[in-house]
Amino acid sequence: MVKTHEGKTFTVAVTGASGAACAQTMLRMLDADPRVARVHFVVTASGMRVLTDELGIRAADPRQLPAVLTGTKAAKFDAHLNADIGATIASGSHAVDGMVVLPCSVGTLAKIANGLSDDLVGRAADVCLKEGRKLILCVRETPLNRIHMENMLRAQAAGAVIMPVIPAFYLGVKSIDDLVTQYVCRVLEQMGLAQHAQRRWQGQAKRAAARPLEIAPRRKD
Ligand SMILES: Cc1cc2nc3c(=O)[nH]c(=O)nc-3n(C[C@H](O)[C@H](O)[C@H](O)COP(=O)(O)O)c2cc1C
Repeated sequence: MVKTHEGKTFTVAVTGASGAACAQTMLRMLDADPRVARVHFVVTASGMRVLTDELGIRAADPRQLPAVLTGTKAAKFDAHLNADIGATIASGSHAVDGMVVLPCSVGTLAKIANGLSDDLVGRAADVCLKEGRKLILCVRETPLNRIHMENMLRAQAAGAVIMPVIPAFYLGVKSIDDLVTQYVCRVLEQMGLAQHAQRRWQGQAKRAAARPLEIAPRRKD
């Protein structure tokens, strides 16, 4: 694999499933990580819609989104249009260390599991699978029907990592932000980016001493 620069290169795709906060946290952490040199970014039309719905974020051009979502100049980001199937990441000759689809709708899961490459997200994912590169699908839907589950099996059999957006409730989390960060740390570790600040299970004995998550009492009205 020929790399033109030091540091890791990833593709992040955002699709139209719930979980925009996870995508934002992922982009911020990649932006701040000195081990990461370049991040290719692509969002589907439905992904744009969910970003607006869940985070109130709007962008006339989706290529502005890395800067909007990270709140920085997003200098290491290379944002592409989903319709641009001629973008760099559409070719296996363009080396990336891996790709994550976060969140991954069951629509995009179906596309990837069945080899449909009619947009950049589908094509870039297909390229990762054919080149034997890491592809992480952060599927978000509930409940799951048989089609979703069979598509997950197909994608996993082709080499993808299926990593549903399922937060851990047992690691001393105190807020939604904690849940999101904890989940994103798990995805980053799958991408080969060790997260030393991540909370780790220390065994039942230490857990007993930790304060449990505080749940606000229900309002009576
Ligand atoms: C606000 C909102 C939330 C949605 N949440 C989900 C979801 O959690 N999972 C899912 O698979 N689809 C969800 N959808 C439906 C997808 O956006 C829709 O199936 C779309 O066609 C997926 O297209 P894409 O995969 O190209 O992004 C949601 C749609 C909207 C508008």
